[in-house]
Amino acid sequence: MKLNQDKKAQFTDRCHAAARAQSSRMDARTNMANDRDLPSPAAPPEHPAVVVHHGPRLIILRRMAWVCTALVLMVICLSAFIRLSRAGLSCHYWPHCYGQSLLELQQGLPASGGENEATALARLAHRIVASTALLLVIGMVLVCVTTRPVRWREGRVALALLALALFLAVLGRWSSNSPLPAVAMGNLLGGFAMLALCWRLAWHPDPPDTPRLRAWAGLGLALLICQVLLGTLVSASYAATSCNSLADCIAASHTASWQALNPWREPVLASTPPLNASGALVQTVHRMASLFVVLVLLPVGLAAPGQGRRGPGLLLLLFLAVELALGLLLAGNGASLPLTLAHNLIAALLLATAFELTRGAGVGT
Ligand code: HEM
Repeated sequence: MKLNQDKKAQFTDRCHAAARAQSSRMDARTNMANDRDLPSPAAPPEHPAVVVHHGPRLIILRRMAWVCTALVLMVICLSAFIRLSRAGLSCHYWPHCYGQSLLELQQGLPASGGENEATALARLAHRIVASTALLLVIGMVLVCVTTRPVRWREGRVALALLALALFLAVLGRWSSNSPLPAVAMGNLLGGFAMLALCWRLAWHPDPPDTPRLRAWAGLGLALLICQVLLGTLVSASYAATSCNSLADCIAASHTASWQALNPWREPVLASTPPLNASGALVQTVHRMASLFVVLVLLPVGLAAPGQGRRGPGLLLLLFLAVELALGLLLAGNGASLPLTLAHNLIAALLLATAFELTRGAGVGT
C-alpha cells in the first residue's frame, strides 16, 4: 500500500517537472518570436523568477553602453577639472588666487592670468571624448530603432541620452564662461544623468520587481539630486573659504543672506578671504542635507541584497561611505582639487547606482 503511494507521488512529481520544462520552453519561444534576436546563453539571473534572453543586438547595445559609461565618466572628470581649476581651487598662491578671474571681471579689470597648460589640455581632451560619446549615443539610437523589431524599451533610454548630450553641447557652447551657479548645476547634473542612463542600458536587463525598494530608492534619488545641486552651488559660488568646521559654518550663516541659495544670482566676491562670506549658508545646508540622504539611502542599500539586488545595493553602500568620507576630508582639510574631483566622481557613481535601484522588472530597460 505504502509502496503504491510512493510510486504515485513520484509519477506526479515527474509530470509536474515535465510540465514546468515545457512551459519554460514555450516562454523562451515566445520571447524569441517577440524579439527575433536569437537568445544566447544568459548570465544567471539575480532572481530565480526572472528569465533573461540576450539577443545579439542587445549584447552589442550593452557593450556600447559600457564604453559610453566610461567615456561619460571621463567627460565628468575633465569638465569638473576645467571648472574647478579655472575657479582657482587649490591654486599656487592659495587662497589669494582663488576666484581671481571672476573678481577681475566684476571689478572691470583685464584678466591677468591666462589658462594654464593642464587646463588647455583638459579642454582639448574634453572635446574629443565628449564628441566620441555623442557619436556612440547616436550609434546606440540607430541600433535600437533601425532594425526590426524596433527595441523601444532601450531606444527610449538611448533617445533620452541623445537629448541630454545635445542639451549639454548647447549649454557648453553658449554659456561656458557664465558665472551663474545655475549653469554649472545644469552642466554637472546633465553629465550625471547621462552616466545614470548609460549605466542603466549597460546593466542587467531584467531585475526582480521590488516596488517598495524602488519607491525608497526613488526618494533617495530625489534627495541625492538636491544634494548634488547644493554641492555644485558651494563650489560655483566660491564658498570653499567661507567657513571650516560645521559649527563655524552655522555661526557664519547667521549673518548670511538667503540670496546665497539662489542659483540664478552671480556670486558677489570680496577682494580678501573669505571671498564669499554668505557661502557659509550654502556650506551649512549642503553638509546638513547629507543626513537626510544617509537616512534614506542607508536602509535602501542594506535592504537591497535581500531583495535580489545585491550588486547595486553593495555599491550604493560603498559609494555612500566613500562620498561622506571625502566630504568630511574636504571640510576638515580645506579646499583641495584632487579631493573635490574625487567627491564629484563618487557623487556621479552614487547617483547612477541609486537610479539603477529605482528600476523594476519590465520597467524602462
Ligand atoms: C551624499 C553626500 C554628498 C554628496 C552627494 C555630495 C556632492 C557634492 C557635489 C556634487 C559637489 C560639487 C563638486 C564639484 O563642484 O565638482 C560637492 C561639493 C562639496 N561638498 Fe559635498 N556631497 C556630499 C556630502 C558632503 C559632506 C558630508 C561634506 C562635508 C562635511 C561635503 C562637503 C563639500 C564641500 C566643502 C564641497 C565644495 C568643494 C569646492 O570648494 O569646490 N559634502 N559635494
